[in-house]
Formats: sequence, C-alpha cells, structure tokens
Amino acid sequence: MGKNTISLRGKNILGLEDFAPEEIRLVLETAKEMKNIIHRDIKKVPALRGKSIVTLFYEPSTRTRTSFELAGKYLGADVVNITASASSIVKGESLRDTLYTIEAMGVDAIVMRHKAEGAAEYASHVASPVILNAGDGAHAHPSQGLLNLFTIEQHKGRLAGLKVAILGDVLHSRVARSDIQGMRKMGMEVHIAGPKTLLPRFLADEPGVVIHERIEDAIKDADVIEVLRIQLERMKGGLFPTTREYARIYGLNEARLALAKDDALVLHPGPMNKGWEISPAVAYSTQSAIQEEVENGVAIRMALFTLVLTGGKQE
Ligand code: CP
Repeated sequence: MGKNTISLRGKNILGLEDFAPEEIRLVLETAKEMKNIIHRDIKKVPALRGKSIVTLFYEPSTRTRTSFELAGKYLGADVVNITASASSIVKGESLRDTLYTIEAMGVDAIVMRHKAEGAAEYASHVASPVILNAGDGAHAHPSQGLLNLFTIEQHKGRLAGLKVAILGDVLHSRVARSDIQGMRKMGMEVHIAGPKTLLPRFLADEPGVVIHERIEDAIKDADVIEVLRIQLERMKGGLFPTTREYARIYGLNEARLALAKDDALVLHPGPMNKGWEISPAVAYSTQSAIQEEVENGVAIRMALFTLVLTGGKQE
C-alpha cells in the first residue's frame, strides 16, 4: 500500500482488530510529530481549530480522559467533558438519546468510555460524529494499545521480533486485548502468564500467543514486561486467594525483573495496585516507563484526532 493512499479520515477508532499494520505505523509516525508539540513552551497549534469534541465517560478515568481532553485542546479544538454521574444519564436518558443529543450540537468527534462491551461500536452505528473508544468493558482500549506500542518503539527503536510478557488479570483487561492485537500485528512475540482464573479462554486459540503457567517463564529474556492491574471492581467472587498471595506468586518484583533482559522495559496502564501486581521498587525503577506512557498517551491521542478529523499530512 503506497504511503499516500493510507488515510484514517472519518475512521471510528473502536479496536485494533480494525487496524492494518500500515495504519498503526501511520499513527505511530504521526505521534512522533505530536510529541514535539507537547515539548514546546506554547503547546498549541491550530490543526483542529473549528472542530468540537465531546468526551463521554460512563466509567471513571484519570489518564485517558485528561489526555484526550488535552490532546484536543493542544490541537486547537473545543473540548467538552460529560461525566455520566453529572449528566441527564442519572435521570434515565438512554445511551442512544445521549448520543443523539450530543450529535445535535454539531460535534465532530465523541470519545466514549462505557462498561458494556460493544458500546463504542453501537455508538458508531447510531451517531454520525467519529467515535473514539476510550474503553468498552473488557473488549478494547485501542488508544492505550497504541501508546504502549509507541512507548516501546521509542525505547527499543523497533517492534518486530521483541518479546513481551503480559502478566496478571487478562480476563478483565481491555488493555491486554488491544495490546495483543497491536503487538501481533507489528510482529512482536507475546507471552502471557497469570492465575488460571484470570486468563480468558480465547487466549488458547489466539495465534502467536504463548501461555505460561509460571510468570518466571514468561518473563525470562523478555524485552518488555507489561503488568496488568488487578481489576477487583469487576470481580464478583474470589478469583485468587488474597492479594498477599497474588503478590507472592504473580507480582513483578526486583528478583523476577532480573530474569528479563538487562534493559527490559516495564509498562503498566495504571492505575497501579502497588505491592500487589507490581512492587514499588519496580514501579519507580529506571526500567519503568509507566510515567512516560502517560505523556505518550497525549501524543497518541493528538495523532488520532488529527488523522480521523483531518486525514493528517498523508492526504
Ligand atoms: N490506563 C487507563 O485507562 O487509565 P484511566 O482509567 O485512568 O483512564
């Protein structure tokens, strides 16, 4: 596919299953330019002047919502935030009517987080603004998957051929699903480990994914280790004995990190349960890129807005 034929203009960003490797490449290259803007004294360009964006969050968020908001503002768009708990949703307004209401105000893009899997896709069918999925249940978190790829490539200079270990609560993790799709498309080797009760069945049929019983085997010689948050809020019953037991068997600590390559990069989507899935020493070590993931999240979301709302420079 020629460079100039790729355009994401008007594309709904629902999950990385909908992305070709060339499209992921376009987002990563655009994010590099966007990161330069973030580092300027005056972080403001007129690329999206006259465009309006609404963030619509039915679930809590610190990183994703703030970074989408800043991304839009740095590009000159008008950004309005709707939090479900402070909107007419508490009066019983349906998702469909909420989307119609936002659409009627002439909005160009809606960034949406919802507890239901498929909610973003549903929104893309009923509303005309471009939909950017900021997380739908355990299904997908595409911008997080892209920012992880971006962070890895910034450190390693490449993606293809790298070994990544994804550890922990895959069952409830939309981040893990987007990571697996994005990483496989970019030629990375994906290894997974965690309690059996937290590994979803689909993994067994996922091509190119290696599942390990012991996390030490997944970590061995890894270039990248991504630790997932234990999502207690999504667990109905006890899926592991205690958090202390979890930390002992599955937590990433300094001894386990030493099994990976010396320059292995540590990622975590946040927020972290420090002392459970990751030790504070590892979370704040020189190998941790967890804070950098947050900064890169702004660059990736700037890239997505630019590409879906204007087509970027490729047109
Ligand atoms: N990584 C992530 O989605 O974090 P938030 O829930 O704070 O947005």
